[in-house]
Amino acid sequence: MRGSGKQRDAQAIAHHYDVSNEFYALFLDPLMLYTCAYYREPDGKLEQAQEDKVDLVCRKLRLQPGETMLDIGCGWGGLSIWAAQHYGVKAHGVTLSRAQAEWAQARIKREGLEGRCVVEHRDLRDIPEGARYDKIAAIGVIEHVGIANYRAFFGRVRDMLNDGGLYLNHGIHHEFHWKHTSQTDFLYRYVFPNGDLSGVTETLTEMERAQWEIVDVENLRLHYARTCRHWVERLEARADEARALVGEQIYRTWRLYLTCSSVAFHGGSIGLWQMLLRKQWDPAGPTEPTTREDIYS
Ligand SMILES: C[S@@+](CC[C@H](N)C(=O)[O-])C[C@H]1O[C@@H](n2cnc3c(N)ncnc32)[C@H](O)[C@@H]1O
Repeated sequence: MRGSGKQRDAQAIAHHYDVSNEFYALFLDPLMLYTCAYYREPDGKLEQAQEDKVDLVCRKLRLQPGETMLDIGCGWGGLSIWAAQHYGVKAHGVTLSRAQAEWAQARIKREGLEGRCVVEHRDLRDIPEGARYDKIAAIGVIEHVGIANYRAFFGRVRDMLNDGGLYLNHGIHHEFHWKHTSQTDFLYRYVFPNGDLSGVTETLTEMERAQWEIVDVENLRLHYARTCRHWVERLEARADEARALVGEQIYRTWRLYLTCSSVAFHGGSIGLWQMLLRKQWDPAGPTEPTTREDIYS
């Protein structure tokens, strides 16, 4: 969404996500989550850590049965499906990738979740004007928004939330002294054509400008270093199948970008933050607990 218009964004997303569902299935977990996992054990496995991540998101959002939840940039639908199955919410996911939406729709049908979980191939800017939700998540989307569009994006998300509702923004940001390098140029050119990262404080400032209350900020940088390392190991273990599906160039490009990402998260030039925001002001006041203790117990 980098000041570029919907068409260019759609092409950029297709470049990365429509590569092949089968290719991503080679190295992602069964929920097909393509964002930082949450390792509760130091030697935890990817599958468990991804389930723990989506569940952490659901607990932070304090999802309740019957609530409506919008999953912006829902990927292959993992969070929407989990939230409908385990928290009884009515989930609505949107993704700019047609291949992801088709995969998610087939899975929703297989799991018998029709009516409780809907995934659409749709730009979030095309969600109807009057749509309102109790809770909203955007997991791994801010990287595609474009810094110039933050104000419009955070304002639009806020408009779609009911008063007092919670929004969880999970995304990559860079450290304060971050600079463009040949590595980041490679990423923007070959991997994420519309990628754009900002610093944490810059993002929080735009959130405040859009009148959000910042409830909580958590740094999961080392979890992402480990996630990317797991993805590389799993991709390498199925190298022949990957090459057969997408060819040598894409296989090598993805292997290189995931390896560099793991190194960058480990070194700290980039990090992953979950930011929990509330749409003020609910006259009745927030109803959720006033500490974080129940989230981690
Ligand atoms: C890194 S993936 C994350 C997917 C998923 N949330 C997860 O955790 O696995 C980014 C997602 O954002 C979606 N996306 C980016 N820009 C979008 C837009 N303008 N409207 C809807 N989805 C968008 C992409 O299609 C993709 O599904």
